Amino acid sequence: MTTTARRAPADHDIKDLSLAEAGRRRVDWAERFMPVLRQIRQRFASEQPLAGRRLSACLHVTTETASLAVTLQAGGADVALCASNPLSTQDDVAAHLVRDHGIKVYAIKGEDHETYYEHIRAALAHRPDLTMDDGADLVGALHMIALNRLDDLAPPVRRWVEALSPAERQTLVKGVIGSTEETTTGVIRLRAMAKDGVLQFPVVAVNDSDTKHLFDNRYGTGQSTLDGILRATNMLIAGSTVVVAGYGWCGRGFAMRVRGAGANVLVTEIDPLKALEAQMDGYRVVPMAEAARAGDLFVTLTGNIHVIRLEHMRAMKDGAVIANSGHFNVEIDLDALKLAAQGPTPVRDFVEEWRLEGKRLFVLADGRLVNLAAAEGHPASVMDMSFANQALAAEFVVQHAKTLTRDVHRLPRELDAEIARLKLQAMGSSIDPLTPEKQKYLASWDSPRARSHDQHAGRDPAGA
Ligand SMILES: NC(=O)c1ccc[n+]([C@@H]2O[C@H](COP(=O)([O-])OP(=O)(O)OC[C@H]3O[C@@H](n4cnc5c(N)ncnc54)[C@H](O)[C@@H]3O)[C@@H](O)[C@H]2O)c1
Repeated sequence: MTTTARRAPADHDIKDLSLAEAGRRRVDWAERFMPVLRQIRQRFASEQPLAGRRLSACLHVTTETASLAVTLQAGGADVALCASNPLSTQDDVAAHLVRDHGIKVYAIKGEDHETYYEHIRAALAHRPDLTMDDGADLVGALHMIALNRLDDLAPPVRRWVEALSPAERQTLVKGVIGSTEETTTGVIRLRAMAKDGVLQFPVVAVNDSDTKHLFDNRYGTGQSTLDGILRATNMLIAGSTVVVAGYGWCGRGFAMRVRGAGANVLVTEIDPLKALEAQMDGYRVVPMAEAARAGDLFVTLTGNIHVIRLEHMRAMKDGAVIANSGHFNVEIDLDALKLAAQGPTPVRDFVEEWRLEGKRLFVLADGRLVNLAAAEGHPASVMDMSFANQALAAEFVVQHAKTLTRDVHRLPRELDAEIARLKLQAMGSSIDPLTPEKQKYLASWDSPRARSHDQHAGRDPAGA
């Protein structure tokens, strides 16, 4: 991969266009599991809610994202797509989007730091009026431009912005009517920006939808994190001790899956409520310093920094495997490991060996999202709901651009419920209707709450 400063071509920058056919076949397969997004696409094609919009998305470039990008395009948007992680791009899918849909894709699996940000620059140079993020990289860059904090921009973006006039910079930021954000970590960043009063446009936190975090973070991350670890290592989970750092949505999902595979699970937390929940769900809750000595496999899913530090790695057993499934590659302190240990020595794809004081430690996917680097990310069926939320959020921003405040918003609950209803329908399940009688009962405070004793006994309450 090149490390020299270079400018991505205007229309796309991908690994190899000849991979397109393989990508098309995989996207077709994934779409079989995405009935909700397919329905939204049909409606978008006839109603054109995004007509004339320029949309830049910074997402994991996977089969499911391809379905979303095509849906947005069907709705009338001119779409540019760059990767939200250097390791998560599926090169064949990128090629398919370029060849068969003319979507501007800037993403190459394994791209270096410079190329990653050159691709973000290319997505910004699309001059979007809508942005879509997974980790707030596009919005973050736009805000550094708005606040004239150019030194905080990565070099490829900074060089490009420096060549723009102040008026052009302003037009770039002011042109954005709103944004959507996919993940917990991005939403936390955006809420911090809103709290500091610096947010320049409204953002819809897709992660806040129940049909997103309850399913994507829990069942999607749970299964695909285990999938990534198994593909990378082929290790036996049964009988091993697995340390799960963080018992939020993702941690719960992963803990559930490894327990199902026969592991002894230890949970580490910093929040007493989540720790209590883990304890009551039947896991042992311990501090990382204690877990470090016991674990065979360590997985961080916290969104926090330096959850596993050098002192923990020093305490680990010979042969311990360490992986991360939180958004950024900061959860394991690899910088400290690099200074103290010898390595890395590649062992298998996505497995690197470090020698630390006579012990071998195996770090997966360089501490990046293991489910996206070593496997294929979440199953399509779960991304169907997440990306249904993304598509509806883009439409919502366009419809309400004039009234939405510069804050972090969630999608209206009716849309959340509609996505759940469509998904249930597609899965062949249905629910009982909420009748007017039941609705009235739930909404009233003065109607009788319970049947009288006489009614229970089968007697006439009037005593007749
Ligand atoms: N791998 C994926 O595909 C994927 C999917 C969705 C979300 N994510 C990312 O995973 C991370 C977690 O997301 P979530 O939705 O579960 O968030 P969450 O807020 O529900 O859970 C995070 C948990 O980590 C705990 N925590 C924080 N610091 C900790 C520490 N030092 N030690 C132990 N526990 C700690 C918190 O108390 C919280 O319970 C985020 O970075 C999110 O963006 C990844």
